[in-house]
Amino acid sequence: MKTLLQINASLFANGGQSTRLADAFVAQWRAGHPESTVVVRDLAADPVPHLTAERFAAFHARPGERDPAQQAVAAFSDALIAELQRADVVVLGLPMYNFGVPSTLKAYFDHVARAGVTFRYTATGPVGLLTGKQAYVFATRGGLYAGTPLDTQTGFVRDFLRFIGIADVRFVYAEGLALDAARKDAALAEAQRAIHRLAAPAVALAA
Ligand SMILES: Cc1cc2nc3c(=O)[nH]c(=O)nc-3n(C[C@H](O)[C@H](O)[C@H](O)COP(=O)(O)O)c2cc1C
Repeated sequence: MKTLLQINASLFANGGQSTRLADAFVAQWRAGHPESTVVVRDLAADPVPHLTAERFAAFHARPGERDPAQQAVAAFSDALIAELQRADVVVLGLPMYNFGVPSTLKAYFDHVARAGVTFRYTATGPVGLLTGKQAYVFATRGGLYAGTPLDTQTGFVRDFLRFIGIADVRFVYAEGLALDAARKDAALAEAQRAIHRLAAPAVALAA
């Protein structure tokens, strides 16, 4: 039995275009895995707080030496990490907001990057500890960025996931959604076709 974790970062929650694309992938994946478990983490409905010096100190305090507030912060981060650890497949709905990833997603990343838990440093560099997973990213943008230096998202998300051990990452883009209606419809239709192509081998691979 497989577990899929769907992380939605759209501020429009279920109405976001990135959420809808992620939902379409998950529906097709679920059809091939009727016994699977799907867990949804909606970063708009349930935002992760920004990282602060206090929260960061709580991560690094020895478990036996944490005060009650630090215990709560560490437990919150531990729960997010446990959810990721349980996932065989990670699906991310990724809107572009103001030339970057949603701040809610950055806050989430800040809470799952934990030295000794999701990555560790070695003499030859950092090693990710969340291995053996696949990730699918559904990126929606008002403009056109893929393949250009203005695409600040793809490299960042790929690098972050690799850093914590998730190296098998596929991206689907729906771009130009703010340009005109015809372009938006065409981009979303093309993304749906890409999802269909992606879901089929994903179903076979994960079976
Ligand atoms: C606050 C905000 C900021 C945005 N900034 C950008 C941007 O910098 N570049 C861009 O191409 N589109 C931008 N857009 C358009 C979104 O990328 C587009 O609407 C996309 O569908 C958002 O995904 P979502 O519907 O899943 O939230 C922005 C939209 C919002 C609401």
